[in-house]
Amino acid sequence: MPTSGEKNMFPRDFAWGAGTAAYQIEGGWQADGKGPSIWDTFCHEKGRVFGEHNGDEACNSYELWEKDLECIQQLGLTHYRLSFSWARLLPDGTTQHVNQKGVQYYNKVIDDLLACDVSPMVTLYHFDLPQALQDGGGWKSASTATLFDAYAKFCFRTFGDRVKLWVTVNEPYVCAKLGHEDGLHAPGLKEPGVAAYLVGHNMLRAHAMAWHSYNSCFRAKQKGAVSLALNSDWLEAPEAGGGAEDDDADAAERQLAFTLGWFAWPVFVTGDYPDVMRSAIDARSERLGWRGGSRLPRFEEDEPPVLGTADFFALNYYTSRKVVAGGGRGGTLCMKNDRDARDVLDPSWPICGVSWLAVVPCGLRKLLKYIKDTFNNPAVYITENGFSQVGQLQIEDVQRSEFYKDTISEVAKAIQEDGVDVRGYFAWSLLDNFEWADGFSVRFGLFHVDFADARLSRTIYRSGREYAKIISKFRCQSK
Ligand code: GAL
Repeated sequence: MPTSGEKNMFPRDFAWGAGTAAYQIEGGWQADGKGPSIWDTFCHEKGRVFGEHNGDEACNSYELWEKDLECIQQLGLTHYRLSFSWARLLPDGTTQHVNQKGVQYYNKVIDDLLACDVSPMVTLYHFDLPQALQDGGGWKSASTATLFDAYAKFCFRTFGDRVKLWVTVNEPYVCAKLGHEDGLHAPGLKEPGVAAYLVGHNMLRAHAMAWHSYNSCFRAKQKGAVSLALNSDWLEAPEAGGGAEDDDADAAERQLAFTLGWFAWPVFVTGDYPDVMRSAIDARSERLGWRGGSRLPRFEEDEPPVLGTADFFALNYYTSRKVVAGGGRGGTLCMKNDRDARDVLDPSWPICGVSWLAVVPCGLRKLLKYIKDTFNNPAVYITENGFSQVGQLQIEDVQRSEFYKDTISEVAKAIQEDGVDVRGYFAWSLLDNFEWADGFSVRFGLFHVDFADARLSRTIYRSGREYAKIISKFRCQSK
């Protein structure tokens, strides 16, 4: 970290933010005419989520928004990333019926933010499809993309005079894989090797349609920017010396192609999926005698092109993995076998909090450099990054404070030394919240939320104080 007097490591108008998502914080699942979403349904089924937790109330941000705003101000954020609940705005998912109370709620959130000089970044879809659309086939159905476009246009028209940063879909990878291959997220489908590719395809189509709608109908007047948020681990082969290095390097490339490349390649590079992905999937289909055509759908010529449909690169980064070749010999159809690569943990990386999260701040710098080199040097917003707590509550969370310091200094190096055009950093998350299949057992907040207290009181963690300090230092230097 630079000391005062050193030159500022971050651009003048760098976005210092934190994020949340509607289902994880709002509660009010049936309030004022909101329709059910797939996460309402999923959580209400037995055995889906840790401890049978659900987001019926969550942080009750639907009623306690002003408390959240106090937290945002306490941190000194310049930006706040929130998501809209599609079913709160359009209860059956279509623009036939608009829930005015939902519109009022988000209008208030946006207006309050702007009154405090905080810019909203809004995600239109963060995992919570209206249940009515799931009943019509969900993301496996091509028509969901068209309905998403109508929803996006409605949001641009209604809120776009004030919202200038839009994320269409959050983490299509997670939605496709965890929701439709592994069954661990809503809608809980387990259709390995097939459904996830179709879902990913329709989410890309939905994103592209919405971007084109913004571009042709709203951009000139509203002057905002639209992208989609892609999650990726940093993936690399183990250090040389262990043998089979070339295979492992190829496997790491393949794994990156099957995760980040799956969505970033079509949008930023060619308008189509990475070659290595198509050839691996088709070869495996052939080997297993699959007769249903390519499991990886093709983009149609008469649809709006997906290439070039991002005004910035929105990256969610949490962790890193070493990748080794193999794993694709098994006889079952599934994504893991298609990519024929296995990820392993480096024992030197600490696991803190939730089991999948090896803490590797330098992986973020490497990933940023990879994005610069591979995706044509885009403007990048780190739309999520964080570190969780589980078990014993620690308000004085020293390790998490160090994590934010280390990570932000890696971002500074990416900007200063590697020349990556990073425009903003959003910590995940503003508040402890409903962490999907882990329920409330995993805490990612900069503020602790006491779920046992009827007032759901918010208390800043030491890591929140640390982040506020960092923001204040760099904001002062920019003045
Ligand atoms: C992301 C997701 C967030 C949050 C985070 C931490 O995949 O977008 O909603 O839960 O992971 O696990």
